[in-house]
Amino acid sequence: MTQEATDARAVPTADWVSIADLHRDPFPIYRTLREEAPVHWVPAINRYLVTSYEACHIVENDQEVFSANETDSLMKRAMGHSMLRKDDPEHQADRKSYGSVLRPKAIKQTWDAIFRNNSDKFLARLKAEGPGADLIWEYAAPYAAENLRQIMGFHNASQEDMQRWSQTMIDGTGNYADDPEVWAKSEKSSAEVDAAIDEILPRLRKNPDSSLLAGLASMPIPLDAIRANMKMTIGGGLNEPRDVLGVAVWALLSNRGQLDQVTAEPALFPTVFEESVRWIAPIGMYPRETTRNTELEGMQLPAGARLGVAVGAGNRDPKVFDDPEVFDINRPKKPHLAFGGGNHFCAGAWVARASVAAIALPQLFNALPNLRLDPDQPATEAGWVFRGMTSLPVVWDQP
Ligand code: HEM
Repeated sequence: MTQEATDARAVPTADWVSIADLHRDPFPIYRTLREEAPVHWVPAINRYLVTSYEACHIVENDQEVFSANETDSLMKRAMGHSMLRKDDPEHQADRKSYGSVLRPKAIKQTWDAIFRNNSDKFLARLKAEGPGADLIWEYAAPYAAENLRQIMGFHNASQEDMQRWSQTMIDGTGNYADDPEVWAKSEKSSAEVDAAIDEILPRLRKNPDSSLLAGLASMPIPLDAIRANMKMTIGGGLNEPRDVLGVAVWALLSNRGQLDQVTAEPALFPTVFEESVRWIAPIGMYPRETTRNTELEGMQLPAGARLGVAVGAGNRDPKVFDDPEVFDINRPKKPHLAFGGGNHFCAGAWVARASVAAIALPQLFNALPNLRLDPDQPATEAGWVFRGMTSLPVVWDQP
């Protein structure tokens, strides 16, 4: 538990860590850091980086000491003040406004059929153009974007708009270099989202459907909160399903034994999903800020300390997971940190599991016979705040 700093250890500095190295491959860095201490001051990112499972877990379950309402947050500048940067009770009011739209019953009644239809549509296009493709940009990204567009109720936008909005606003959220061009693109997207919301809300008030925006249209929620929460959900609900889909396919195609096991027993796809997000957490790091002097797993932290909660590192903590660097669907089941925890636990976890584990993965392996990595073009991965495949060239046997 957290407590006032007493005989806690001073936090070591890791001045050897660079953003470029984290972006390329954070995992060897996390391993070295974790072996020394659960928390480091990392000058390159201007944050205390939390890398042990236990410390990440403590932070996400104690909003009194570890606030999500970060000072000078770039996310607030790029997207407005969403639920993700609020503590309770303010956070709870916004979170409640999402109602049951993203929950299992609504998924079963409404979204499952839509996800299936979207997957069919993009797979049919792949097959028509095959027998090879970049699975990220020709399947995973448009599939995730189209699902999210429909769930959110952006009937006046395209899946391409969703992808552009998501990426440019995420770039704004990470614009620590204060690049004016990045801000310009992010602000343009933010204005486009505002305009789309202004246009669609009256339409959905008149003709409500099952979407998030339709639910919000009938509630006494301030427009600023609707706008900010929609932008955060566009930023947070698209890349992650895309990235877990890419990582899961890549991991299976790189581990023939496990692929054969799943092909023989498709009920294992949910296990593949959970192991994929443990192995490479799509959101690898998220911020928090201390509200007072405190102690975290024996380490001293001052009030106002900006933390980077590296759940991507916690998910590979050998104190919790044996042989943590290895992708292994047969490892003993233990809770991972990929969906966060506490009051900000991912609101879209059921949507992600349904759309990726229950629909996309089985349909993909079923539709594309003898799916394999393209021997001439290696797959690439990158990122640490968000991590996933940047390309996944594959080939299959065209019937
Ligand atoms: C594999 C896919 C996904 C992963 C790994 C993921 C991960 C996360 C994480 C780690 C957080 C907490 C961040 C923090 O505490 O600062 C979060 C929050 C959130 N996620 Fe997801 N997410 C995924 C998919 C989705 C989808 C598909 C949606 C929407 C349809 C979504 C909507 C949200 C929302 C609204 C929050 C904010 C919750 C709150 O503040 O109470 N996520 N997600």
